[in-house]
Amino acid sequence: MAQDAIALLEADHHRVEELFREYKSAGDQQAKLHLAQIICMEITLHSMVEEEIFYPEFARATGDEQMLEHALKEHQEVKDLIARVPTAENLDGAIEAIKQHVLHHVEEERRGMFAKAKASGMELATLGGRIQTRRAEVADAIQEA
Ligand SMILES: [Fe+2]
Ligand SMILES: [Fe+2]
Repeated sequence: MAQDAIALLEADHHRVEELFREYKSAGDQQAKLHLAQIICMEITLHSMVEEEIFYPEFARATGDEQMLEHALKEHQEVKDLIARVPTAENLDGAIEAIKQHVLHHVEEERRGMFAKAKASGMELATLGGRIQTRRAEVADAIQEA
């Protein structure tokens, strides 16, 4: 039995929130660099399954193009920040900027899109299965690269 799409996406959100806390308490630069890489990869993977699977279904079910556009704009802002991480002179500052954007975006998804999706009658269990499959495929591809 596949997990519900929103439960899966929220599990990603919690994982990334936890990674930001780990980054903050990390002692040395090596640990920070490692965590920064994991944070960027987790966010990239999460944004991808939202954009490929959850967001289009949300737009179909609710017709709320405005909420979709807004979420995509925020994803783009985070992608731009992630792209700067490898060359960032101030890694703490770069991660902090990502964290601020991500926490804001996650809060909006919780109160806005996810609440609306739950009320819309979307097939959340079916979507959860598709998200899990896609996530696993891409995670494997990253590990083999
Ligand atoms: Fe998102
Ligand atoms: Fe999300």
